[in-house]
Amino acid sequence: MLNDLPSQAEDKILALMAQFRADPRDDKIDLGVGVYRNAHGHTPIMRAVKSAETILLETQETKSYVALAGDPAFTRAMADLVLGDVVAQNRIAAAATPGGTGAVRLAFDLVRMANPDARVFVPGPTWPNHLSILDYLGMPTVTYRYFDSTTCEVDVAGLLEDMGDLRAGDAVLLHGCCHNPTGANLALTDWQAVIDIITTKGALPIIDIAYQGFGDGLDDDAAATRLVASSCPETLIAASCSKNFGIYRERTGLLMAVSNDASSCDLAQGNLAYLNRQTYSFPPDHGARLVTMILEDETLRADWQAELANMRAGMLSLRQQLASELRTLSNSDRFDFLAGHRGMFSRLGASPEQVARMREDHGIYMVGDSRINIAGLNTDTVPVLARAMIDAGV
Ligand code: LMR
Repeated sequence: MLNDLPSQAEDKILALMAQFRADPRDDKIDLGVGVYRNAHGHTPIMRAVKSAETILLETQETKSYVALAGDPAFTRAMADLVLGDVVAQNRIAAAATPGGTGAVRLAFDLVRMANPDARVFVPGPTWPNHLSILDYLGMPTVTYRYFDSTTCEVDVAGLLEDMGDLRAGDAVLLHGCCHNPTGANLALTDWQAVIDIITTKGALPIIDIAYQGFGDGLDDDAAATRLVASSCPETLIAASCSKNFGIYRERTGLLMAVSNDASSCDLAQGNLAYLNRQTYSFPPDHGARLVTMILEDETLRADWQAELANMRAGMLSLRQQLASELRTLSNSDRFDFLAGHRGMFSRLGASPEQVARMREDHGIYMVGDSRINIAGLNTDTVPVLARAMIDAGV
């Protein structure tokens, strides 16, 4: 029977990781998968996470189940981190999930259960796994224009025009900050225009926020999500703790369903618990507990925020160095967009052939659409990438 299974195409980002590992060159550079790295190429365990783990080791008395939707304290702490006080707690239904991907999957499941005919509008481009999950669930998608490959900025006019096709009962996937894969983001004023269309059409916003704190700061990065959640009657928010707490393998995420009123909130809560039960029963707890401990403790929280600010500043400075290096080498300002992008990623605007050339000639690995992970660079490798880009004719 297992012989009858269809063969599956490999995930492009994960396939690239394997290709990089197999490359014997010592000076190869990994700009592929979205994992933060420090200047030494290491993905550290954050100090506050280590401290919380040490405390937990001494104080945790049981590993018994928590609850189908996870610990309510985790929900409260994360709702506060993502939404601040813009939405009343009694409008927020939520479930802890295995990572941000688990939250995204749960969001799509919930939409499909609420409206089997819902179309999901997705940005062009988006994280490839969004499309893969939607395809797996058999949910129809409509791509709205997002990235203008000439300017390497958001095509705001195209986006608003395409969202004009939304119908009541459709859902719209939006990246809360630090757009993956392009690094180009909407300004807050553009978000207001998006909200106006979504509310006029009666569509449901789904916000994927996986990089809060990697752009301009924890509050700045959450500003758009807060605006949407406080303006629209209903919003789904898939939040990840993988990157900003650096706990990738602990699989820590949360889906929040901001509901119109307390009774639809109860309904959503019941459905989220049901969906968790059908999928994996209880969500993982270890990462969620660490996050809760850090967010609830003044000292741990301050230390976490300081380390996160440091990581963010490092990425920002690498962006600026790359843009300035390219300004010199290309004798033009056509790469200045790199300094304006935010988050871990930027799309360089290179063709697949140019991407292949940089890989073959210089051992530089990036996703085929020319997405780079800025955190894969350091001050020594920025000039190497800049030179390779010019050599490849980008
Ligand atoms: C990425 O986009 O590289 C990350 O979100 C990791 C992943 O799972 O693809």
